[in-house]
Amino acid sequence: MMQTHVIAMANQKGGVGKTTTAINLAACLAEKRKEVLLVDLDPQANATSGLGLPKEPGASLYGALFGTARALDLIKPTPVKNLSIIPSEIDLAGAEVEIARGEHYLHRLRAVLSEVIASGRYHFIIIDCSPSLGILTMNVLAAAHSVIIPLQAEYYALEGLSVMTRLIQQLNQNGVNPGLHLEGIVMTMYDGRTNLSQQVVQEVIRHFGDKVYETLIPRNVRLSEAPSFGKPIITYNPLCTGAAAYRQLAREFLARRNGGLEDDDADAAGFKLRSPFEKSVQMEAPAFVSAVIPAVESRGLVEEASTHAAS
Ligand SMILES: Nc1ncnc2c1ncn2[C@@H]1O[C@H](COP(=O)(O)OP(=O)(O)OP(=O)(O)O)[C@@H](O)[C@H]1O
Ligand SMILES: [Mg+2]
Repeated sequence: MMQTHVIAMANQKGGVGKTTTAINLAACLAEKRKEVLLVDLDPQANATSGLGLPKEPGASLYGALFGTARALDLIKPTPVKNLSIIPSEIDLAGAEVEIARGEHYLHRLRAVLSEVIASGRYHFIIIDCSPSLGILTMNVLAAAHSVIIPLQAEYYALEGLSVMTRLIQQLNQNGVNPGLHLEGIVMTMYDGRTNLSQQVVQEVIRHFGDKVYETLIPRNVRLSEAPSFGKPIITYNPLCTGAAAYRQLAREFLARRNGGLEDDDADAAGFKLRSPFEKSVQMEAPAFVSAVIPAVESRGLVEEASTHAAS
């Protein structure tokens, strides 16, 4: 029986790396022996095709949202061990309108996922959202425990971010989802050779401090090729910088959730780490960043992030 943590991968801005991060973080957590369910709730179904699954009518969560199917019956295996998916398909677009007409329109997804959570099969449910703040995305934010916001390291990144953080506050305060919190901000498509990328990261860290993952996802052409082969980066090209980055993100994600400790061994053996002193914190971020991003300046960013984390 596992405790399930539900994570929304959300940003109303398009093309910032939500799907790429959902697929690859999910795959890297699965590689670390976490049981992961990826729920594709974007009618574009990019996460579905990105893992090599067909877009089939009737396969999405649509039926479950309207009481004609059970979420547990919609779960499909993926080519990645420990990673399952509930696919999407274009019909899901119609769910926006339909749900809005019905009762309890913000809590439909929460009700649907409750039996999946109760099954105790998953450590993590990661939900890939569409680039909008429509009813489906609002349902995800009403059902999730936390939100990961991918942010493209470009000039207007911060503008969209404040919309998301205010929304989380509102959902807390109006009682729709009092426990919802920001899990972290992932900087994507980072280009260490440009000052702009570095400045944007600095700026985001200045506002959000240790909410920003130290792991920066570099711009890497392999990451954009992998979906057309229906594979996550760790199977498409396990040795590229993109694969290293998402593995590092998974490690940092788990370490942060575990109060700075890596929990692999502890979890596999079925017990929690005994004391914080028995294992040293191994974030590895500075070494990683300088390895994959030639710009030495990036070290400064990591150190600044660490300072925030410590303070
Ligand atoms: N680190 C990266 N390096 C290179 N290309 C990337 C990277 N991350 C994402 N991409 C590419 O950028 C595009 C947008 O990424 P992605 O689909 O993950 O964003 P999204 O936020 O899910 O988009 P949407 O809002 O449309 O759902 C895709 O073509 C993807 O392959
Ligand atoms: Mg997407």
